Amino acid sequence: MCGITGYKGKRNASEIVIKGLKKLEYRGYDSWGIAIKTDNHLNVIKRIGKIGDVSSKELKLKKSSFGIAHTRWATTGKVTQENAHPHLSMDNKIAVVHNGIIENYQELKKFLTKQGFKFRSETDTEVIPQFIQYFMDKGNSFNDAVINTIKKLEGRFAIVAINKDYDTMIGARRGSPLVLGVGKDEFFLASDIPAFLEYTKDVIFLDDNEIVFINSKTEIRNFQTNKKVEKKTEKIDWDAKEAEKGSFPHFMLKEILEQKESIARAVNQDLDEIKRIAKLINDAFGVFIVGCGTAGKVCHTATYLFSRIADKHVNFSFSSEFPNYQHFLTDKTLMIAVSQSGETADTLEAIEAAKKKGVKVLSIVNVYGSSMTRISDYNIYVKSGPEKCVASTKVTTGQLAILTMLAYACAGKLEEGTKLIKQTITDINKTINDSYLKKIKSLAEKIRDNESMYIIGRGLNYPIALESAIKLQEVSYIHAEGFAGGELKHGPLALIDNKTPCIALVANDETKADILSNAEEVKSRAGLIIGVAPENNPAFDYWLEVPDSGNCSPIVNIIPVQLLAYYLSTLKGIDPDYPKNLAKCVSVK
Ligand code: AGP
Repeated sequence: MCGITGYKGKRNASEIVIKGLKKLEYRGYDSWGIAIKTDNHLNVIKRIGKIGDVSSKELKLKKSSFGIAHTRWATTGKVTQENAHPHLSMDNKIAVVHNGIIENYQELKKFLTKQGFKFRSETDTEVIPQFIQYFMDKGNSFNDAVINTIKKLEGRFAIVAINKDYDTMIGARRGSPLVLGVGKDEFFLASDIPAFLEYTKDVIFLDDNEIVFINSKTEIRNFQTNKKVEKKTEKIDWDAKEAEKGSFPHFMLKEILEQKESIARAVNQDLDEIKRIAKLINDAFGVFIVGCGTAGKVCHTATYLFSRIADKHVNFSFSSEFPNYQHFLTDKTLMIAVSQSGETADTLEAIEAAKKKGVKVLSIVNVYGSSMTRISDYNIYVKSGPEKCVASTKVTTGQLAILTMLAYACAGKLEEGTKLIKQTITDINKTINDSYLKKIKSLAEKIRDNESMYIIGRGLNYPIALESAIKLQEVSYIHAEGFAGGELKHGPLALIDNKTPCIALVANDETKADILSNAEEVKSRAGLIIGVAPENNPAFDYWLEVPDSGNCSPIVNIIPVQLLAYYLSTLKGIDPDYPKNLAKCVSVK
């Protein structure tokens, strides 16, 4: 969480970093700030809220070739102007933007306070510029002071630092992402590529413990060993337009509708590689699948997919809970880590814990070059393109499609699996049209004032009921809960009244009769039933038709719920792309 960016080159730095911040806003949007170096002076501006439509002109910043910026998702310290980044050293010469958490900041702050340093914020970040000043006061050059400072930091960080008296911009990372964009006589640093994609597609992914010094040229070193590191420049095959909203009112709607193509891209993989990975899964002595939030629900669904398609037991754990299973791990275990961003701290830590036990790791990730892909043994990219809305939609179905394909490959039926997924894509294309969207919008109008909603599913669709609840909570702020249909009678039925819509996720499989009777149980207690199903049924007050897609029912059933969540959100005046209190990429524990 938090987006950082920096620019050094021939263009106007304030324009570039402000544009970059707007592209990174999905990473956090509590407050923002920039520091521009002009005539040996640092101009710093900080504001609470989203950067929104602010332009560099309005900020009346002088032209400069050098600047850094930050968009914040508060962790340490409240949402205040003082806590917004960049943070400055006491002598106001050094400015730093930071993404991550400095775990030992209190101890460092205590030390600096004893040395006479005064702090202006409650953040962990402020110790960084202050320590850089501390080392410079002791005679270090700027470069050495930054190295000595980051060696003191515990936790995860990506930082960019500038000094009013130096022409060097410095970036460093451990555990949080930092990408270097390489243009002609200009350089960009950012948490994510879209921040500078319109200027260059040539990037260098910094790895953990690497520091880059940017002048007229760049030099990358390992800050632990101080050895120079030669890195490959990679060409990014992304279209800058993919990261734009275009004519859509929100990224969420754009990304939901993109699923028509993104699922096809997800399964357009090297099939020999998929077979090789399926063999790894089959040969492993124990398979764990881990993820957080929506990615966690995808993992949970995968346990059903592997069980029913490949007779394979796969253990699911939320990444944050995974360390509790360490005792079961051996060097023959395989971990499958699922993530959109590839930067989620809980999942990174689960991978690190597994690797300590010699476990091999396969990551299924959307963001190219992200931390997870750099520490995993095998990677499958979801290829959804940038997903900007905080609520995951197109990446969810891409991940589900890949895991369905893997389950079929494990069963030696890859062809059957890919045929089913391709048919599902065709059917989704036929289903989602303007009248379908209108129907869901008018349903949203009817239920927008309800305070609670429940979602039930069985088998493959039980985790999808849980995921549906996440979607509704995230963007509509309605209290939504998902249940296994069979569990209703063991408690949750007591919550049902005539003000409680209940979504029943139905698949045309062996769970159909039971989930329909669960829907009846709710209906007979005055609940309003919204059936997401291939066929209408007397139990439904509203029917949202989905294709009859067999083992792809999780993919087709989540889409109308995503749309319902979207319309509920916009009808309630919420911006679904930036829900309150959340950030797209959760890089803290
Ligand atoms: C998705 O809608 C949520 N915003 C959230 O639960 C997300 O899935 C979770 O934080 C994991 O993120 P990742 O996929 O980037 O690892």
